[in-house]
This record gives sequence, structure tokens and C-alpha cells, in this order.
Amino acid sequence: MKYVARANRIKNILSTANIGASVKIQGWVRSRRDSKGGFSFLDISDGSCVAGIQVIADRSLPNYDSEVKHLTTGCSVEIEGNLQKSPGTKQQVEVLAKRINVIGWVDNPTAYPLQKKRHSLEFLREIAHLRARTRTFGAVSRIRNSLSNATHNFFQSRGFLYIHTPIITPSDCEGAGELFRVTAIELDNVPKNSNGEVDFRQDFFGRPVFLTVSGQLYAEAYASALTNVYTFGPTFRADNSNTPRHLAEFWMVEPEMAFCDLEGDMDLAESYVKHLFRSVLEDCTEDIEFLERLTPETKIIEPLTRFIDSEFERISYTEAVKLLEQSHQPFEVPVKWGTNLQSEHERFLCEKYFGKPIFIFNYPKQIKPFYMRVNEDNKTVAAMDLLIPRIGEIIGGSQREERLDVLQERMRELNIDPRDYWWYIDLRRFGSVPHSGFGLGFDRVVQFVSGMRNIRDVIPFPRTPNSAEL
Ligand code: 4AD
Ligand code: MG
Repeated sequence: MKYVARANRIKNILSTANIGASVKIQGWVRSRRDSKGGFSFLDISDGSCVAGIQVIADRSLPNYDSEVKHLTTGCSVEIEGNLQKSPGTKQQVEVLAKRINVIGWVDNPTAYPLQKKRHSLEFLREIAHLRARTRTFGAVSRIRNSLSNATHNFFQSRGFLYIHTPIITPSDCEGAGELFRVTAIELDNVPKNSNGEVDFRQDFFGRPVFLTVSGQLYAEAYASALTNVYTFGPTFRADNSNTPRHLAEFWMVEPEMAFCDLEGDMDLAESYVKHLFRSVLEDCTEDIEFLERLTPETKIIEPLTRFIDSEFERISYTEAVKLLEQSHQPFEVPVKWGTNLQSEHERFLCEKYFGKPIFIFNYPKQIKPFYMRVNEDNKTVAAMDLLIPRIGEIIGGSQREERLDVLQERMRELNIDPRDYWWYIDLRRFGSVPHSGFGLGFDRVVQFVSGMRNIRDVIPFPRTPNSAEL
């Protein structure tokens, strides 16, 4: 038998609803129900849409007693038949099967972990290799795919070049020290130097290297030649935050633009996020409706639509602190100029005070990394975060310090060895220009659009502290 990747999937068959057409479907059995009249209903899914397709398997099929009657949830099948109007109320069309080939049986069906009932998301996380078979994870996967596609469409249509920045890197872009080390040293035989320290000169790269926390520094090098570029790849943080919004391995979209200041950066971020919302609403209407029905307390469509049509708020960090101080809210951590805003502060501003996405910009320089452009007040840097209701920060970005002397001064202040960043400093020596960029936490956007409570449920195989089982 020959198999090819087929274009005519269940989604297509259901939407064209070409009554009388002969169709072939390949997929997995969601359920089998036997009718008294001597035939069975099969619900078949191939992951192309929320709905499965109903198949009528009559006892006149040659393998009805020997095989069809024994099909269970999870079996894979190939079915040929004709599309007919369905007398049932749940679907408009169904397939009257002429041939049913069982491709793969399920060993020990009573032990198959995905029975036809609601499973908790926590349980499904333990069987991440099977959870894509559920309607929920099918819908989330299609939403994630649609958002990736919309990302490329957005930047490509504006002439940005997609560049691939390295995964293995010697530098800690964010300076937060949340690095995963990469080494080929055998851990039970670690080479030491005369001071008793690990001798990385004997390691694979002859120096210490890590998994990247951000592709930004490399994107800056390319923007300094190609003007507008973006990277979209996995990033890694050994940040021991066990929260519903943190992953140790997550995906980030990072555009970088030469000849662009902080305001231009926020303008681009706002257009991009609105483009994502607009495309996914159009592209994944059924998936979003399905997920919204699943958790009616989490509204998805209404806020998405409202945010597309509204202007995002923009306030400075200093204004934000003032608003928080004047709010007289019983915050657990008091607000103080010069310290990081806590998520309770961000939630108050974004969800309660403004009720829409907000940019907060010009943060105190002492809480931000070395590469952000120092403002004239010499107290703040040209940084911005975009916060959205229910999730919090989805974007962090800034105008970059393009002035050689100021950058070097900042590095001294922060005790960063300029020899580690010699090439980055070079960019300020050879035709430096004002430039800006940002990083969008892709998984957090999928979380917002899908309404999933936990970020672990929007990436196929989540990596979090103490959890990388499969
Ligand atoms: O704010 P961050 O740390 O910014 C940077 O890394 C910049 N170098 C980006 C740039 O300017 N090119 O991270 C960017 C975004 C955050 O706003 C957040 O949405 C997401 O990445 N993020 C995480 N998402 C999931 N799990 C984590 N542990 C995350 N840490 C950051
Ligand atoms: Mg940030």
C-alpha cells in the first residue's frame, strides 16, 4: 500500500460538504457506538479541526464482525465511503463506509489512557505524548500554528529578514544569571586548572558556553547591516519560577530595527500584537469558540476583539508608580520607585485601572540590563514592557545604547567585562545607529488566545523545574 501526505482532510470534507462525493479519510477512532439496527457509528478525527467526522459502518461490511465491532478509542483507520446528509442533529454530513481498514489496533484498550471522558489538564501533562489527541490540545496546537504563521506574515510583509541566531552562546544577554550551561566535559572527570577551578579550555568550545536566553545581541549585529530583522526561536532560562507563566524553555519572537527609537518600537509592537489577534480570530474561529465553551468564565473573543479596536495605553514607569501609590490598594509588596513592579501591581494597572493592554516605558536603569539606552535624566532607560490582562508581561523591549562611551560606562557600572562583548561594542564603533527591538513571549500569547490557565498546556512538551520527563 502507498501512502502520501493528503490535502483532503476531514476539515475540508466537512466544510465543502459535497453530498454524494466519494471520500477517503485516515485518522483515529474517537469513539464507537453500536446501534440496535445492526450498524455502528464511528467518530473519526485526523486533527484538522475540532469536530470529528461521523462514519456509519454497516454490518454488511466484510470485516464488520471480525474487526469493526472491536474498534476502540485510539485505533487508527483508513475509510472509504460516500458523503451523505446526516439525519442526526449533531452533524450535517456523515460518511457511509464502503471499506474500513484497520491500520493500528490499541493494545489492551481498557488501559488506554485517553478514555472518552474529561481528563484533568494535570493528568494530561503526564501523558504529553498522547494529549494532542484530545480536542483541547488539538485546538491549542492549531492556534499555536496560526500565530506562528501570522508572525512570519507580519514581518515578511514589512520586509524584515528572518535570521537564525545561535542557541549556544557565551553571553548572558539579560544579565540575570539564569543560564543553563552547555558542556561536553565528563562530569565524573572534570579537568581543573592550578587554582582548582574547572578548566573550560579543555571543554568542547575551549571556553564556558550556555543555552541562549535571547537572540537579541546577534539580531543587533544583523540589523546593523540589514536594517530590519527578526528571530523566532527557543530560548532557555534556568529561572526557578514555578508559575503558570514561566517555562524553562520557551519561544521568543525578537524583531530588531535600525533607525528606530523607543516610540517606533512600541508602534511596531502594537501593530504586531493586533495583527496576531486579528489573524488568529479569523483563522481559528472554531478552535477559539470551542476553548471558550470549555471554560466559560474565561472570555476570549470579546477581549481579543476589543483590543484589536482600541489603542493600547502608554504610560511611563514613573507615572505608573504614581498611579499605584494613589490607588490605595492593599498590595502585598509596597510600590517604590526604583524597584521592579510586582505582578499584583501590573495586574491592577492593566486589568483594573485601564482594562486593556498597556505599555510601561522608561524604567529605572538599575533594574534593567546593560544594553538599554540611557535617557537624558540619567536615571531611566528607554525600555518598555507590554502587559495584557490575565497574562501580564508579553513583551519586553528597548531602544539600545548606540553611543560607544555611554555603553562602556554602563558596562563598567555593572561589572561586565568588555572583552566578553568586544564584537557587540564594535557595532558602536563602525557606523552605529539608533536602533530598537523587543522580545515577545510567544507561549504567553498562545496562552492568552487559547484561554489556557497554565503555560505548560500551550507548548507540546513543557520544560519546567523538576519536569522534563518526556
Ligand atoms: O523581557 P525579556 O527578558 O526580554 C529579553 O529577553 C530581550 N532581550 C528581548 C529583546 O529586546 N529582544 O523577555 C521577553 C519576553 C517577556 O516579555 C515574556 O513574555 C517572555 O519573553 N518570557 C518568558 N516566557 C515564558 N517563560 C519564561 N520563563 C519567560 N521569560 C520571559
Ligand atoms: Mg522582561
